[in-house]
Order: sequence, then C-alpha cells, then structure tokens
Amino acid sequence: NQLEMELEAIEKGGYEHFMLKEINEQPRSIADCMRGRLDAKNGRLVLGGLRDYLNKFQNAERIIITACGTSWHAGLVAEYLFEEFARIPVEVEYASEFRYRNPVISEKDFVIAISQSGETADTLAAIELAKSKGATIFGVCNVVGSSIARATHAGSYTHAGPEIGVASTKAFTAQISVLAMMALKLGYQRGTISEARYMHLLAELETIPSKVERALKLNDKIKEIAWEYKDSRNFLYLGRGYNFPVALEGALKLKEISYIHAEGYPAAEMKHGPIALIDQEMPVVFIATKDSSYEKVVSNIQEVKARKGRIIAVVTEGDTTVKHMADHTIEIPETEEAFVPLLSVIPLQQLSYHIAVMRGCNVDQPRNLAKSVTVE
Ligand code: G6P
Repeated sequence: NQLEMELEAIEKGGYEHFMLKEINEQPRSIADCMRGRLDAKNGRLVLGGLRDYLNKFQNAERIIITACGTSWHAGLVAEYLFEEFARIPVEVEYASEFRYRNPVISEKDFVIAISQSGETADTLAAIELAKSKGATIFGVCNVVGSSIARATHAGSYTHAGPEIGVASTKAFTAQISVLAMMALKLGYQRGTISEARYMHLLAELETIPSKVERALKLNDKIKEIAWEYKDSRNFLYLGRGYNFPVALEGALKLKEISYIHAEGYPAAEMKHGPIALIDQEMPVVFIATKDSSYEKVVSNIQEVKARKGRIIAVVTEGDTTVKHMADHTIEIPETEEAFVPLLSVIPLQQLSYHIAVMRGCNVDQPRNLAKSVTVE
C-alpha cells in the first residue's frame, strides 16, 4: 500500500535500492565498526568482547573460522590476516561441511563464527558442535542479540547497521574490519609484529573509511563498464593472496543479483582449468593491486590477453603497466596489502549492482535467495 511504499522510500534514503544505499554507506559503517575501539594516535586497540578471552586466544594452537556465503569469504581474508600477523594456523570451514564431518577439535582450539544475521542454521549448528568438544567460540555478528551472538562465549559486533539488501556488502567490510583489529591485537600481544609495525598498521586502518569514500567515486566509470558487459553470459574473477577471497566475493555478488554465471579463482589456478574458457566473449576481472603478488598477476593478465579475453582490472592508483594491457582499469587508493580487500571489493560490488539494474533484475530481493537461511 501507499504508506508502506512511502516508508520504504524513506528507509532507502533517496537511493533507488537498499543495496546501493548500503554500498555507499561503507565509509560510515566501517568507521562505526572501529569507533571506540581503534585509537591509532595513542596506539590503543580495545575489543571489549575479546578482553576476557584474550589469554585463551593468544595461546590457541589453532584458529578455526566457520561461516557461510559472504561471511565465509570474510573468513578467508581473516585466514591471511591471522597467519600473517599472529602466526597461528587457521582453518576456514564452510559451516555446512564442518558440522557433518566429525571434525578434530579440542579445548585448545579457538573458533570464530562469522554471521551477518546471526541466524544462519548451519553456522549455529557448527557452533554447537565445536562447543560440545570444549572449544572457545567467538562470534562476529552484525545483528545484536541474534541466536549466534547468544550461543557464543564472547564476540564482537560489526556495528554496520541493518543490512536489508540480500546481497551482503557493508556487513562484509565491517566483518573484515573487526577481524583485522582482532589479528592486529593478537599479533601485538604475541609479539609477532613489532611495536613500530603495529603502530603503522593501526594508523593505516584508520584511513580506510576515507579511502573507501574515494573508491566509491569511481561509480560512473563502473557504470560504463557495466553497460558494455551486461549481456555477457559468463564472468571470471581472478586474484591472489588477500585478493583471492575478493575474487570469490566479486563473483558471488554478480551471480546473486544479475544471474550471470561467474566464477572466482586464485589467479594462478587459472591454468588448471578456467583458461580453457577464455575467448573474446569472456570478461575477466583481475584484482591486480600493487602488492607482493603483483608481478605474478601481471603475467596472468598477459596469459588472458594472449587468448583474447576481455580484461577489467582493479589496480592501485597510478598504475601504468596494467593500463596498457587491460581493456578497462579501475584505480583504487593505495593501502597496506592486508587491508586491500576493504577497498578492492568496492568496485566489484558496484559492478554487480549496475549490471543487475541494467538487466532489470530485482536487486534487493533476488530470486531463490533469502537474507538469512534458517534452514539447513
Ligand atoms: C545467505 C545470504 C548471504 C549471506 C549468507 C550467510 O545466503 O543471502 O548474503 O552471506 O546467507 O549469512 P550470515 O547472516 O550468516 O552472514
């Protein structure tokens, strides 16, 4: 009815869709997530929920991360973060697989469950299983008071605010922000990162909201790219290191809302299969930011180019090498390698959004999908 429609328009804050509103909210939602926790100037990082369990976390023999969907992708980013900064081995598990395979787990394990809604049935079941084996369970949830937030021993909320669009955007970047803070705290406590490096990383993390703001300004350019590829039947997304999970997330966003088949792959795995798909019809999205795997990604780009694939590359501002090879380049601000996913995912969210709108899809409520999956 009329009233409901008007209310919804108000909730959308002038945006055509919730998803677009939520994409654009990210500078603020990431800042909200860090507010009161991160104070780079004074070298302070406080995660209230972690305080009582810091000792256990610090001495964990292994970290197991369990989640589904986009939250599982945030977990993959966290694997790189925890291993790099805290030097503790990490396993990332789909909750649905973990719960059904009699996993080896003990009191020495620290389990992190990630969930936007806090209601995902498989994640909840995985938590109960790990709990029954004596592990400590830490939740990273967005919805306050949700089932997962209550079932865990402790946790940190992502404070991204309500996410209405079925395709997760701001919850993902908030999850990574919390997990990055956890990894830095843990690394500092364990002495696996130096004081100077810790201080530098905190300062860099604090600049992320303004860099996300800058990345969002590429919207018009991305709209043009979207127009060119909106009728493609397949997409490939490739990245390495910290950008490998971003490739998976970019592909997931596209298939969820535009119904175009898309696959994410670690760029180097391309030669073990996906390369067979490449021809002049195939758009390949590369995340090729200036980081430790840059040179390798550049040679993967050349391999695609040699097979006439169409290349859309997300690069670091000022990059000239990739510009000469790619059909389109999207330049995002430079940051520490570990925080790149917070920026590189932004254009991929926008790309999927625009393609879906151009194809006339129901962006906020794609067919067959639900915001939270409370059945197994
Ligand atoms: C559903 C949603 C996804 C989400 C996944 C996990 O499939 O459509 O967007 O990533 O569930 O949800 P959670 O609430 O546990 O993060």
